[in-house]
Amino acid sequence: MSETFHVGLIGLGVMGQRMLARLAAHARLRATWVWDADPAALARTLSAYPQLQPAASAEAVIAAPGLHTLYIATPPAPHMALSNRAFDAGLAVFCEKPLTVDFDAARRTIARIDAGGLRAAVNFSLASSPGLAALQAAAQGGIGQLQAVQIELAFTRWPRPWQAAAGAWLAERAEGGFSREVLSHFIFVLQRVLGTAQVLASQPDYPADGRSAERALEATLQAGGVPVQVQAAVAGVVDDFNRFTLQGSTGAVELRDWFGLQQRHGDGPWLPQGDAAAMRQRGQADQLDQWVALIEGRPHSLPGFAEALAVQQTIEALLAGQPATAR
Ligand SMILES: NC(=O)c1ccc[n+]([C@@H]2O[C@H](COP(=O)([O-])OP(=O)(O)OC[C@H]3O[C@@H](n4cnc5c(N)ncnc54)[C@H](O)[C@@H]3O)[C@@H](O)[C@H]2O)c1
Repeated sequence: MSETFHVGLIGLGVMGQRMLARLAAHARLRATWVWDADPAALARTLSAYPQLQPAASAEAVIAAPGLHTLYIATPPAPHMALSNRAFDAGLAVFCEKPLTVDFDAARRTIARIDAGGLRAAVNFSLASSPGLAALQAAAQGGIGQLQAVQIELAFTRWPRPWQAAAGAWLAERAEGGFSREVLSHFIFVLQRVLGTAQVLASQPDYPADGRSAERALEATLQAGGVPVQVQAAVAGVVDDFNRFTLQGSTGAVELRDWFGLQQRHGDGPWLPQGDAAAMRQRGQADQLDQWVALIEGRPHSLPGFAEALAVQQTIEALLAGQPATAR
């Protein structure tokens, strides 16, 4: 019979709760020990999942007997320190994106992972999506010569309604904002399909208070020789609009609303590929199966820390801004 792997969770906010619900439906991953710096978050979690064991600290989760893997769903600042403590304890680490905004700490951690053959991955949810697979096939000749990528995002409000309970960090410039939170998923897809992107021009629009996160971002990049346009803003009437379009000489592929996928040949009509809700479910279930592969030391499709750092470097370059004249 296949072994069941025990998961410790640190960070029990919006994403921690979502992961607990997903884990409850997985045959081989079992949430066991949990901790959050906020005692109220821990208490709420224990009343929803009384079978979980509350730990007294992050260190206590990591040292819990019988644990195989640690899931980190705190805001970005503690990601590297918690990952390193988990590596000390011999655990496989599944960390939320964004990896970190501390690049030096990330580089040291990646060097340690490489030197020790440690097991570490980052939760970019599109990593296991049928949409990503379709884009990879398209980029390998399925839509002819690649011509352009367009990434469009719009949010009526930031943070989005489903994140209303998240901490203040999400709306702040230091760690939050839609570029790190949402655009990073599509930069991950872009770089997985076409290689590391170069920022040619970027105009982020920040509120005057010096503290709040960006309200809009327009940018031009290049990846694998293909021009990439980004248009993103807190605007419009849709809570969470996103579209990633890869245009080729003989057709195009489009991801929309995260897991939705459509394709067209030439100038023909857009043809939906599969049911978006079913593909979301499949992608999320496969993401957990890939986590099992990570724990078992088998090949998997999850991004490692180095790939996640490369995404974050592109995101931070976009957020730093670059005038078009610098091209
Ligand atoms: N993969 C995805 O699709 C996805 C979606 C949303 C958020 N995220 C990421 O997940 C992470 C968490 O986001 P969220 O929306 O759940 O935020 P949140 O603010 O709702 O929750 C964060 C939780 O972490 C706790 N916390 C903060 N510092 C801590 C520490 N040092 N030790 C232990 N607990 C600590 C807070 O008390 C809070 O309960 C972020 O990195 C975010 O970018 C990923």
